[in-house]
Amino acid sequence: MVHKRKKISVIGAGFVGATCAHWAAAKELGDVILLDVNEGVAKGKALDLYEASPVESFDSRVIGTSDYKDTVDSDIVIITAGIPRKPGMSRDDLLVTNAKIVKEVCQGIKQYAPNSVVIVVSNPLDAMAYVAKQVLGFPRERIFGMAGVLDTARFSSFVAEACNVSVRDVSAFVLGGHGDTMVPMPRHCSVGGVPLTEMLDKTTIDKIVERTRNGGAEIVGLLKTGSAFYAPAASAVQMAEAVLRDQKRILPCAAFLQGEYGAKDIFVGVLCKLGGAGLEKVIEVKLNEEERKGLDHSISAVQELLSALKKIEF
Ligand code: NAI
Ligand code: 2OP
Repeated sequence: MVHKRKKISVIGAGFVGATCAHWAAAKELGDVILLDVNEGVAKGKALDLYEASPVESFDSRVIGTSDYKDTVDSDIVIITAGIPRKPGMSRDDLLVTNAKIVKEVCQGIKQYAPNSVVIVVSNPLDAMAYVAKQVLGFPRERIFGMAGVLDTARFSSFVAEACNVSVRDVSAFVLGGHGDTMVPMPRHCSVGGVPLTEMLDKTTIDKIVERTRNGGAEIVGLLKTGSAFYAPAASAVQMAEAVLRDQKRILPCAAFLQGEYGAKDIFVGVLCKLGGAGLEKVIEVKLNEEERKGLDHSISAVQELLSALKKIEF
């Protein structure tokens, strides 16, 4: 049997894209193509990363390019092209510029990697995943967005810090759109199997929920020149790994809903099973009244964003 290395194309060689390439190569998920409109940046970062391979002992080729031909037959494509937030900007302020960029990127992917699984990262996430689905026309199994893994990672890291325990022992998820209306789910969080509500008082949990909702803005406020990239890239690569290694991981992803939670034809963060076929299943969680209200509110916010998207030309 001939074994072929997997191929991961990362579109956008900025902070998130280059860091995705770094994690993917270090984990030896396969060979990495790093594509950017700025060819020099893509080639320079790819070469630099490849030259780290003898030191870190990873067998992944890393190739920089601005030509979509090099993405041919990719198993996974991670889209990070687009402008990031600056202080004072919401993710939604990026709508017009990034819709044009994501459209252009997807035209390239459709031509050269029509059988790939696509993970969208560009913001505003739920709307950019929608743009990508429109242009690509892929089934929902092969096109979804990264946000919930990042929002959950933030929530889990704050929980581990507050409980003074290993992050490995925190199990949690965040649902909803990738914005201020996201819905952290403390009732479904456990620490070493013990419900979070038995580990921390309500005031502390409420603070963690609020900090999670503002997690992106907190980093933007500190960096001043851009937005988060280590945790976002690690999150996108965790999703890619789940697919490439057929791990059947249960992870929150922005999925194209088809009636789940009463929503249709819209990308919203829900729990999913990710494996070799891509998004293999959407898992509907039983919600209490407060959680249900929170999710409905978040779905409405994404719907508003989509209405704004449909009014612009891109
Ligand atoms: P960045 O500015 O460092 O990198 C963006 C890259 O995209 C630049 O290198 C730029 O040259 C490239 N680019 C622009 N137009 C392009 C095109 N048409 N084709 C190919 N490449 C193109 O930005 P950063 O920090 O890497 O963020 C990238 C995107 O990811 C932003 O939209 C940001 O808001 C989003 N993001 C989303 C997260 C999520 O949870 N979904 C988390 C973090 C960032
Ligand atoms: C974040 O949550 C900007 O969406 C990005 O950090």
